[in-house]
Amino acid sequence: MVKAIRIHEAGGPEKLSWDDIEVGDPGEGEVRLKQAAVGLNYIDTYHRSGLYPVPALPAVIGLEGAGVVEAVGPGVSDLKEGDRVAYANPPLGAYAEARLMPAHRLIKMPDSIDDQTAAAMMLQGMTVEYLIRRTFRVEKGQTVLFHAAAGGVGLIACQWLNHLGATVIGTVGSEEKAELAKAHGCHHTVLYRDTDFVAAVKDLTDGKGVPVVYDGVGKDTWDGSLDCLMPRGMMVSFGNASGPVPPTDLGILSQKGSLYVTRPTLMTYTASREDLVESAEALIDVVGSGAVKIEVKQTYPLSEARQAHEDLEGRKTTGSTVFTV
Ligand SMILES: NC(=O)c1ccc[n+]([C@@H]2O[C@H](COP(=O)([O-])OP(=O)(O)OC[C@H]3O[C@@H](n4cnc5c(N)ncnc54)[C@H](OP(=O)(O)O)[C@@H]3O)[C@@H](O)[C@H]2O)c1
Repeated sequence: MVKAIRIHEAGGPEKLSWDDIEVGDPGEGEVRLKQAAVGLNYIDTYHRSGLYPVPALPAVIGLEGAGVVEAVGPGVSDLKEGDRVAYANPPLGAYAEARLMPAHRLIKMPDSIDDQTAAAMMLQGMTVEYLIRRTFRVEKGQTVLFHAAAGGVGLIACQWLNHLGATVIGTVGSEEKAELAKAHGCHHTVLYRDTDFVAAVKDLTDGKGVPVVYDGVGKDTWDGSLDCLMPRGMMVSFGNASGPVPPTDLGILSQKGSLYVTRPTLMTYTASREDLVESAEALIDVVGSGAVKIEVKQTYPLSEARQAHEDLEGRKTTGSTVFTV
């Protein structure tokens, strides 16, 4: 038996239950991981609340972790007991002291990246990788708008965009968050709770707007984000921290200048082993070179997942959050 955080039904943070679970032996193509650190991501709150329904209940939630291989199932040739690995993808089950994982979804971690950093960076870091290099390929000299710039995805994005030579306009919820985003390469911060961010973006771009908006906030920023785009610009709507974007009339995209919209997910962009490895390697490179520093700003014992969810949804966290196991 090991300890795990499960939900027995969808709902608020109080539904997170500290349970004993059986892990069992790894099957064909699987390994059993002893986890050292688990990543907290906004998607965990969607699984908990029911916004993204889980396949079956009760469910151990969580998609990201780092640890050591402690048993290898039949048919696994490229991993052995004692290997340090990390991951960021389904199946759900990361909020646990130990778990089974398909071997082909794991990435070996170099010694230079410790367990907490690995658990903090895989999901948010590979997300930034695909968003700024593949969903829309940001070029040197471009100015982009990134919402929630002081968050987990946001701080990594500010640094990586800066590394690519882009100018970053970032929205933030407080003065403290503005300072933090600036310290991580965000050139212009906009306090979007008090300021009209559309007007601010227009000011900063001489009225032209930006070629791409990265929006993980969703409902509250959707309309304004479209107004920040230049003609034929791309709206990358990649999350729902304030709630899902309501159904939208496509005619709005023509009225606002032949805009493009995409709603990408990390799961699609790392679906093949080749894409997963390339994305992880690009991330490990920028972290290894020091271009991107992974900021673990909060840690909680896994048993205190409820508090962590309350803080994340209460906009109290900055940077990345990790559960210690
Ligand atoms: N599609 C994908 O592949 C993918 C992958 C990873 C993450 N995501 C999405 O990316 C976004 C950021 O994820 P994260 O894990 O790094 O979280 P995060 O940015 O650390 O936390 C969310 C932030 O959103 C902002 N926010 C604005 N309105 C909010 C509201 N009403 N309630 C709560 N927060 C609000 C807050 O920052 P301020 O106080 O500064 O406004 C908050 O700190 C999420 O939407 C997540 O679902 C998508």
